[in-house]
Amino acid sequence: MNNIPVNKATSLKKPNQMILLLPFLKPYKKEVYLALLALGVTSLTILFFGKAVKYIIDIGFVERNQILLNFILLAFVIAIIVMAVAGYYRSYLINSASEKMIADIRKKIYDHLIRVSAEFFESNKTGDVISRLSVDTGIVVNLISNTLPFLIRNTFLFIGGLIFLFTTSFKLSLISLILIFFAILPIIFLGKSVKNLSKKNQVALANLSAHIEESINGVKTIQSYLCEDKEVRNFFNFVEDGLKISLNKIRLKALMIAIVIAIAFLSVALVVMLGSRDVINQKITSGDLSSFIFYSMICATSLVALSQIAGQIQNASAAISRIFELLEVKSPVSQTVVPQSFEEFKNSDNSVKINFASVNFSYPSRKELLVLKNFNLQIPAGKKIAIVGLSGSGKSTIFQLLLRFYDVDSGIITLNDCDVKALSFVDLRQNFSYISQDCFIFSGTIFENIAYVDKSITKQEVQKIITENPALSFIDNLPNKIDSYVGEKGIKLSGGERQRIAIARAIIKDSPILLLDEATSALDNQNEQIINRVINGFAKSKTVITIAHKLSTVVNCDHIIFIKDGEIVEQGSHSDLIALGGYYNKMYQVEMIS
Ligand SMILES: Nc1ncnc2c1ncn2[C@@H]1O[C@H](COP(=O)(O)OP(=O)(O)OP(=O)(O)O)[C@@H](O)[C@H]1O
Ligand SMILES: [Mg+2]
Repeated sequence: MNNIPVNKATSLKKPNQMILLLPFLKPYKKEVYLALLALGVTSLTILFFGKAVKYIIDIGFVERNQILLNFILLAFVIAIIVMAVAGYYRSYLINSASEKMIADIRKKIYDHLIRVSAEFFESNKTGDVISRLSVDTGIVVNLISNTLPFLIRNTFLFIGGLIFLFTTSFKLSLISLILIFFAILPIIFLGKSVKNLSKKNQVALANLSAHIEESINGVKTIQSYLCEDKEVRNFFNFVEDGLKISLNKIRLKALMIAIVIAIAFLSVALVVMLGSRDVINQKITSGDLSSFIFYSMICATSLVALSQIAGQIQNASAAISRIFELLEVKSPVSQTVVPQSFEEFKNSDNSVKINFASVNFSYPSRKELLVLKNFNLQIPAGKKIAIVGLSGSGKSTIFQLLLRFYDVDSGIITLNDCDVKALSFVDLRQNFSYISQDCFIFSGTIFENIAYVDKSITKQEVQKIITENPALSFIDNLPNKIDSYVGEKGIKLSGGERQRIAIARAIIKDSPILLLDEATSALDNQNEQIINRVINGFAKSKTVITIAHKLSTVVNCDHIIFIKDGEIVEQGSHSDLIALGGYYNKMYQVEMIS
């Protein structure tokens, strides 16, 4: 289920995932230091209350000194005000630092993922990635803004309380300390299991979001096949899996906290019992005992808090490892360190020739299937060629390799004699206007989709293309014209309308090579003719490769190649291939009859 590669650097075996956050916290270190200072002030104020209690009892009640008592009470009020102000700053500063940090992490991960090669998204579920970027990052925000300050404050209070205890009564403190040692044991032993369950729980959540994402995308297919009940059962199973893990985790955490609470407060009870004897024997004052009880309560409650935090930290460290695994995802297709500039290879008229030489290729996830076999193809600059062949013969794969979504296993692909592998992705891909077989449409407006390539394209420019092009006239009939929202993946448009928008988007990119993968397959004959005329006009001096099933689309191309099982079996002009009487001719005859 969980295919994202776990790099050793972030694997759960590493003791402390928190270190991975440090570089991201660095830009906000001023906020963090000030928050720590404020945290120190609030903790010190709390510890001060214990001493204040002692003096109120010893000076105020036993000695009955009204002036000093008033003075102590005034100090008490000032301490409360200081604590409130410091508390405000602690909360504000650390929360803003953690939100800014996680915003940076989200940006960095998205920036990384959007550039990794397509292969990653073939073997990983979108929902899982989304869950890591939303749920897991939320856990980390909570870690920085709440859990860690809570940890620091309670550790500070615990140690501070302990120091005050020892300065008051060494014997009583020693007893408390031994009991505290026993209280920590369950945190150590049960904590590990809590951490494992946390990781499992987050995986279960990710599976859940992956399932939701997929079923919402495929809701029409599910409903048309009457498979709602099947999907609901699947979903229930995912929910139940997650619930089982959560319940186990809750049970374990509750047990851990209960044991810690029992032992911690047992130590307080024991201290009260033994301390009262010391007061009666006048070894310590009643004020001392009161502040001792105060500090042992502080120690006990901070210990309980620490035991709860332990679980949260385990949880967060599992979340951190899941987040940082995304940054560890390596792209099998990567740019060379020192790319060659395409400027040197550019022709004066900007035209580009393409060459495939002895290319062999199989998809990384299906190594056993050789999709392109010793594939050789020269496309002179400015020529219009068509690729035809049966479904699954390797046509779209040719485009995938040209755009370097994958790298060839052997052989070479060149643009104007420059190896595509030697170019930066920018220099390579700016040569292509590509319309994929699924002609992806974004969930914005028509204008945003057509002008996708460049922010500087104005509405007037897009409107001009629409007005001049009868195949795009449907846009003017939409309620908000080019500002109409098209829905997720362009769901509010017909298949043919989506294709026409994708073509307009490619035309506006105006690259020297046009790659059309079944770009007009959903169009009626009339619109197809109009679009073909538009494409031919626009692409006069451009190199065009058209993949088509409908052979009527390609009859006018300069050169047609017929692919069978990844190999070119026939090539030539339409009339050459008809005369040859082979695969192409057979396919054409079948199309004519139908
Ligand atoms: N991402 C992938 N991972 C593994 N195998 C793939 C992948 N994409 C395609 N294939 C396989 O590679 C072969 C060629 O696929 P390709 O998409 O190039 O075919 P095509 O000629 O474009 O077919 P169609 O006319 O149906 O679009 C097919 O057998 C297909 O199953
Ligand atoms: Mg295809």
